[in-house]
Amino acid sequence: MKVLVLVVLVTCLAWDSGYCLSQLRLRRFKLEMEEMRKQDPTSDLWIEQRLDNFHSTDYRTWQQRYFMANEYDSPSGPVFLQIGGEGPANPIWMSEGHWIEMAQTVNALCFMIEHRFYGKSHPTEDVSSSNLSYLSSEQALADIANFIVNIKEKHNLGNRKWIVFGGSYSGALAIWARLKYPHLVFGAESASAPLHALVDFTGYLEVAQDSLTTMGSGTCADNLSRASALVASHLKSDAGRKVLASSFRLCKALSDDGSDDSYLQESLAGNVMDVVQYNRDNRHFEGGGKSLTIKDVCRIMDDVTIGDEMKRYAELNSRTLDMSGSPCLDASYEKYLEDMSNTSWTSAIGGRQWVYQTCSEFGWYQTSDSPHQPFVGFGLKHALHQCQVAYGISQEHVQEAVKRSNENYGGRSVAEVVSRVTLYNGGIDPWSNVSYVVRDLQSPREQQIRFGPILSMQKKVNRKEPPGILTFFVPDTAHCAIMYPSSQNDSLFLKEARKDVQTALLSWLA
Ligand SMILES: *[C@@H]1O[C@H](CO)[C@@H](O)[C@H](O)[C@H]1NC(C)=O
Ligand SMILES: *[C@@H]1O[C@H](CO)[C@@H](O)[C@H](O)[C@H]1NC(C)=O
Ligand SMILES: *[C@@H]1O[C@H](CO)[C@@H](O)[C@H](O)[C@H]1NC(C)=O
Ligand SMILES: *[C@@H]1O[C@H](CO)[C@@H](O)[C@H](O)[C@H]1NC(C)=O
Ligand SMILES: *[C@@H]1O[C@H](CO)[C@@H](O)[C@H](O)[C@H]1NC(C)=O
Repeated sequence: MKVLVLVVLVTCLAWDSGYCLSQLRLRRFKLEMEEMRKQDPTSDLWIEQRLDNFHSTDYRTWQQRYFMANEYDSPSGPVFLQIGGEGPANPIWMSEGHWIEMAQTVNALCFMIEHRFYGKSHPTEDVSSSNLSYLSSEQALADIANFIVNIKEKHNLGNRKWIVFGGSYSGALAIWARLKYPHLVFGAESASAPLHALVDFTGYLEVAQDSLTTMGSGTCADNLSRASALVASHLKSDAGRKVLASSFRLCKALSDDGSDDSYLQESLAGNVMDVVQYNRDNRHFEGGGKSLTIKDVCRIMDDVTIGDEMKRYAELNSRTLDMSGSPCLDASYEKYLEDMSNTSWTSAIGGRQWVYQTCSEFGWYQTSDSPHQPFVGFGLKHALHQCQVAYGISQEHVQEAVKRSNENYGGRSVAEVVSRVTLYNGGIDPWSNVSYVVRDLQSPREQQIRFGPILSMQKKVNRKEPPGILTFFVPDTAHCAIMYPSSQNDSLFLKEARKDVQTALLSWLA
């Protein structure tokens, strides 16, 4: 959902085939699309859905993609449904991930449904703005309800209990599915769910700064801050702009009218955001590959032998480009807007759809508007500009849409009314700031101490969460970490959280 840097060609996350991909960038959508083309289509299954679930006499339909895995299934077990998010669904999840480990334990029949307008699930002929009016989380939830009803009939599933799963945006969908369709959805297991819609998501970079300090070094954020200031001051002169173009390996010179400036600054910050959001997670099973960690970023930013802070920032950028095999950094905002405005399915591999959802439902623009973080130059105005250009949605309408989303789903207070829900969040993950978190211990120092194993004993001290939700705040992990396959290298906290999630599941099914 870090959508604003979509056109950057860097691909340090080349192996992320986009399951829990909250930090959307066009490059990642492109890779996901390539990944999808490599998929064996024989695993694709299709179900008919209404184009408009909320207009009872609109009979137009389309085909939604889903996957099924019945090798763990026994008739006494539950039915698991993995909810697809803002990208193509990947069938690897039918044999991997923590939910499959649980499916084996409880003999679940497993399904995964692809979100409308992503991957191969195309409800309309293109993604023009008028067609995108059929893209919303509410339509997606209604698709899920219809899926459950029809699959129950088709496979004769009687009263078997349906448990939904999801991470990031689809983690929120899992909780909302339990909220809106409790007669169909028996329980929900959710990871890193952003529940609070918010236009100016200033907390994202604040949490990122804390993570750089706790997981990297005490001087890292200051050095980044110094680097960002140097970039900003170079932007002020023609000579400086030339230096930036060569230091940061830009594909072409910065536009003279200044229109690329915010976009460049955001792209460079994006090199850091990607690393923080996904620090050392286990996604490698999705396709293999290496990525930088917070420690690597801070090692570079603190290394005085490279030169001044801007040189170190440039080194970080080069490392990111090299790891992805990209020759240069595309910082053309004009090209970005052109790509975002292209309404063909082949061009609009997902970025256009997701940004539409931020403009029409959720906001979540990760701006540099807070003073308590290292970056400068990409404020709210820059973020909202794309809504107007790509879809004709005004600032006021974005504000109103976000307010309506919180009215509709309850924001964080959904936690007080749902039942049979688990919710994981990682303490390093900036998205935890818009999720629902119950911290066991309060002060930052205590938080920091918790990174050591001793304090795992003190887990669940002073917990004050509502009775219907079980939350896990795992301080030393990143976005969606709990969803990935268990590894012996996982932190103690994460191992415990996985166990507790499974215990909760077993108690629901008992
Ligand atoms: C989708 O958009 C096209 C224009 O690009 C339009 O002709 C068509 O009627 C739209 N379809 C729907 C279902 O609104
Ligand atoms: C989120 O960030 C805001 C500041 O932007 C802060 O006041 C708040 O405590 C944070 N909330 C959570 C749940 O982290
Ligand atoms: C940057 O890192 C170096 C090496 O750790 C440190 O000596 C220096 O004080 C830092 N600079 C800032 C501005 O924090
Ligand atoms: C949109 O993208 C498609 C596929 O990449 C391309 O063929 C087409 O020329 C683009 N359309 C515009 C208006 O740029
Ligand atoms: C655990 O970490 C070690 C050392 O970093 C590595 O060699 C090993 O492959 C990792 N194991 C798993 C299951 O990821």
